[in-house]
Amino acid sequence: MKRLLRYSSTALRVSALLQVAAATLAFWSAPSAHAQDGARLAQQLCAACHGIHGDSKSPMFPKLNGQTHDYLVAQLKGFGQHQRGESDARSYMWAIASQLDDPTIASLADYFSQQAPTAGGGTADAALVAQGQMIFEQGLPDKGVPACASCHGAQGQGNAQFPRLAGQHADYLMRQIEVFQNGTRANAPVMSAVAHTLGKDDAKAVTAFLQSR
Ligand code: HEC
Ligand code: HEC
Repeated sequence: MKRLLRYSSTALRVSALLQVAAATLAFWSAPSAHAQDGARLAQQLCAACHGIHGDSKSPMFPKLNGQTHDYLVAQLKGFGQHQRGESDARSYMWAIASQLDDPTIASLADYFSQQAPTAGGGTADAALVAQGQMIFEQGLPDKGVPACASCHGAQGQGNAQFPRLAGQHADYLMRQIEVFQNGTRANAPVMSAVAHTLGKDDAKAVTAFLQSR
């Protein structure tokens, strides 16, 4: 059963990638293709993984709806320059981002930052969420964990280069904290320093809280 599951998730990934290859070809070869048209590219290409309007339903793919404009621009440029080295960034985003010029990136960022954010799925574990909220709002002074809210906004809504975290898939956030810690996502020294202060249970609590927003 385990093997079957692993197989089907690989098959899913391969089929998503094939779909994307086809969509990319169709987009760039259409006579009316207009590189700056972020809304159209978002629907034809990005939606295959990130969901309609960026409202991803799978923790494999981060939600992009309501993400801040400046963060989106920085990430898309960063993927193109291989600044995020974690394996999912390499497999999925490096090639796509390398095809995007600056006006197209700006247009995609306009589009996704203007989509209404959706609240993430709730979690039954109220105690975990409460612990996470405390860490998010106040930090853990004893362990040197700063309040996440001081950079990511009181509601986790983000601001400019500080990404929105509210409503994001907890599993995605957890993976990012891990890659900040192990150094494969090395593009943001400030956030890497913060990640190193977080124990596994603290990270679990704060990501559960964020997904519940
Ligand atoms: C084949 C699937 C796939 C497609 C198509 C795809 N992405 Fe991604 N994208 C991913 C994955 C997987 C990640 C998470 C990478 C990681 O964990 O480092 C990601 C991450 C991102 C991020 C970083 C988000 C964050 O919170 O840091 C941005 C921005 C992004 N993608 C934008 C886009 C845009 C814009 C498009 C369309 C032009 C697109 N992606 C198309 C799979 C895809
Ligand atoms: C001093 C400012 C600062 C503080 C405090 C901070 N962060 Fe961050 N965080 C950042 C920046 C800047 C980024 C964007 C990094 C980049 O450009 O890739 C980020 C990115 C992230 C990401 C990746 C989001 C994504 O979509 O990929 C996660 C997860 C995260 N922070 C969690 C936290 C948590 C949890 C806390 C509190 C324990 C916290 N941050 C506190 C500055 C901060």
